[in-house]
Formats: sequence, C-alpha cells, structure tokens
Amino acid sequence: MMEDLESIMFTKEQLANKTKAMGRIISRDYEGKDLVVVGILKGAAMFTMDLVREITCPARLDFMSLSSYGSGTTSSGVVKIRKDLEADIKGKDVLICEDIIDSGLTMKNLFPMLMKREPASLRLCALLSKPSRREVDVNIDYLGWEVPDAFLVGYGLDYAEKYRNLPLIGVLKREIYA
Ligand code: PRP
Ligand code: MN
Ligand code: MG
Repeated sequence: MMEDLESIMFTKEQLANKTKAMGRIISRDYEGKDLVVVGILKGAAMFTMDLVREITCPARLDFMSLSSYGSGTTSSGVVKIRKDLEADIKGKDVLICEDIIDSGLTMKNLFPMLMKREPASLRLCALLSKPSRREVDVNIDYLGWEVPDAFLVGYGLDYAEKYRNLPLIGVLKREIYA
C-alpha cells in the first residue's frame, strides 16, 4: 500500500501528537459541559476515535453518515442524512468531528440541520482543512493542520473507498487516480 504513495504528509507520531494536543484544548473548553462528540462517517472514524480518548471529560459519542450526491472525488453540495444520530442533542454541547474540510459544503449543509434541534452549542473540529478548495465559508473551531491541495489518503481519508486503513496520511501517486 505504501508504494502507492508519492510522499508522507503526516506520520503516525505526528497524528498522535496532534490529537493529543487538540484533546487537551477541547477538554479544557468543555469542562463541566454536556459534551456530545459527533463523528462524521466514514472519513472521520479514525480521528474521532483517537480524539475522544484524549478528552478527559465524560463525553458522549455518536455518529452520523452523510451522503453527498455527485462524483467520487468532489462534493456536489447536496447533503442527505444516511444515518442519523441516535440521541437527541437538544440542550447538549455538540462537537462535530471531521477528517477534512474541503469545499466546506458538507458542513455548510449539516450545521443548519443540527441547529434546528436546539443544541446548547455546536462547534466544529477538523483534523485537516484545504483552504484552496473552499467554496463556502466554514468556521472551524478546532483545526489540526491546513494542507495544500494534494490528493491525501489514509487515517480515514479515501480514494474510491480505499486506503482509509493506512495508519498515516500520505499523498497518493498521480498514476493511481489519473
Ligand atoms: C469527505 C470528507 C468530508 C467531506 C469534505 O467525505 O470526509 O466529510 O468530504 O468535503 P467538503 O468540505 O467538500 O464537503 P466524503 O463525502 O468523501 O465521505 P467519506 O467521509 O465517507 O469519505
Ligand atoms: Mn467524510
Ligand atoms: Mg470520501
């Protein structure tokens, strides 16, 4: 699998250090609050699981699966809930956990849907952000790294559903997707 990578962007160790640092800040900010961490499947699965283990307050954990219509490599902007949250978030402090914010359309669609459920607060935590690809403004409350517009895979990020299981984040060779 490593031979399909052009380069490594973030090693296992860098990922672990980053989730640790983000977990520390989030733990401080949510002390005494009713925190619900919401992982967005499937991309954010690994990051969410690692992040929650670095949060020191008693958090709830829930997941959503969203489907954006359109082609495999770009988002179309229309988002549908494929799997909804299990619990009511009314009055809860909700933290959405994403692997990457690209065009911003997924979060731009999701936020108003969740706001209607009247959470006490709603914030966004993202491991990565690609500002060069942004189509709509999204406020990221907790961000790991800004990344260039490279084809990244691993640690949840996929190319045609593959490579999510890579324990690091790498740049996919052009010949694989071209
Ligand atoms: C990817 C990624 C984010 C979203 C970001 O998910 O995990 O959820 O796209 O793109 P955007 O900012 O342009 O909306 P994807 O829809 O590929 O599903 P996946 O998480 O199952 O891979
Ligand atoms: Mn996703
Ligand atoms: Mg994807």
